[in-house]
Amino acid sequence: MSPPPTWPERAARRLTPNYRPAPVVLTRGDGVWLYDQEGRRYLDFAAGIAVCALGHNHPDLTRAICDQARDLLHVSNLFLNEPAVLLAERLAALSFADRVFFCNSGAEANEAALKMARRYMRTVRGEDRYEVICAHKSFHGRTWAAISATGQPKYHEGFAPLVPGFVHVPYNDLAAMEAAVSPRTCAILVEPLQGEGGVVDAAPGYLAGLRALCDAQGVFLIFDEVQTGVGRTGRWFAHEWAGVTPDIMSLAKGLAGGVPIGATLCTDEAAQGFAPGAHATTFGGNPLACRAALAVLEVIEREGYLAHVERVGAQLGDALAALVAAHPAQVVGHRGRGLLRGLVTAPHVDRAAVVSAARERGLLLTSAGDDALRLCPPLIVGGAHVEEAAGVLSGVLGAL
Ligand SMILES: Cc1ncc(COP(=O)(O)O)c(C=O)c1O
Repeated sequence: MSPPPTWPERAARRLTPNYRPAPVVLTRGDGVWLYDQEGRRYLDFAAGIAVCALGHNHPDLTRAICDQARDLLHVSNLFLNEPAVLLAERLAALSFADRVFFCNSGAEANEAALKMARRYMRTVRGEDRYEVICAHKSFHGRTWAAISATGQPKYHEGFAPLVPGFVHVPYNDLAAMEAAVSPRTCAILVEPLQGEGGVVDAAPGYLAGLRALCDAQGVFLIFDEVQTGVGRTGRWFAHEWAGVTPDIMSLAKGLAGGVPIGATLCTDEAAQGFAPGAHATTFGGNPLACRAALAVLEVIEREGYLAHVERVGAQLGDALAALVAAHPAQVVGHRGRGLLRGLVTAPHVDRAAVVSAARERGLLLTSAGDDALRLCPPLIVGGAHVEEAAGVLSGVLGAL
């Protein structure tokens, strides 16, 4: 008799083949640690790709979810619920925004931002402005409009024709952005720090330059903070480092600490694009996700995690710089801010092999873009964890 199939074999047989998961079945998490079926322990510097802001099994988040599940899981947007209103008020208080649209993912939050901008130009201004200018190497999600906005051809393969009306220019090139703006432009959409593109920082003055350009041309500035928002860089939102605000901003990932949620934040002006009936989603603003997000925001504020992220993030940056100094043939630089960091590998380095070897030594991390290993641990990570992760990476790089 043949042995029963393993979990990876069962997954390979029944899940669609669009992912290539590591052969590890995670069953439990605690703080910055994850455990697999065999009880092996992993230091989590992936955090579900910048999602698990409070780590795993945080008591306040778990309690909020359980309490809300007992009270009320879902009502449609034909009615009001308290957590959605409270969360919109809280997000408005923390940001530039006057209003919030809730949905379920980053791609959806961007989809709403794009629809809002286009519809505003048509219905409020009466102008035929529909084009959105985006950046090369950007990533905005996998819905059709989101891949059309995304400036990476590999995500377009096989899906043509894309949604029309998107133009791409190099990131951090203000002159190229200026040249691309036309009477058809309705918005500029960028990440204030590119995540999937390889953890690429905005150059000094770039975001302020975009703000000035948008003001001069009467077009919306949209920041995609799906990966960078909610404390990841040491501020509530990464654009705060640049001292400018957008008209529209998308959030998701860390907002509810692992419960699916997306949010499109906007000014009163931009919100006019969404007249009653203009846009909707069944699960958006459901009380469970909103209650979870309220708990995440409360813990970040109460425990002073923004300052903590800045401090531990600087320590992580120093640790990466030390790795570059110690292994110059393997790693050639580092990028990023706070707890969203990229370690840049030399062209000959097989990053998938580094990620596997690190996992075998008990450290989870991911790749990003063409040349970076991404480190984005939970915001609660401590200095000792950073040292431990750097030690593992040093061992892996030394053995290449
Ligand atoms: C900047 C950015 N925008 C949008 C998305 C898409 O988010 P989701 O996968 O929740 O649709 C991502 C996901 O990685 C992202 O990093």
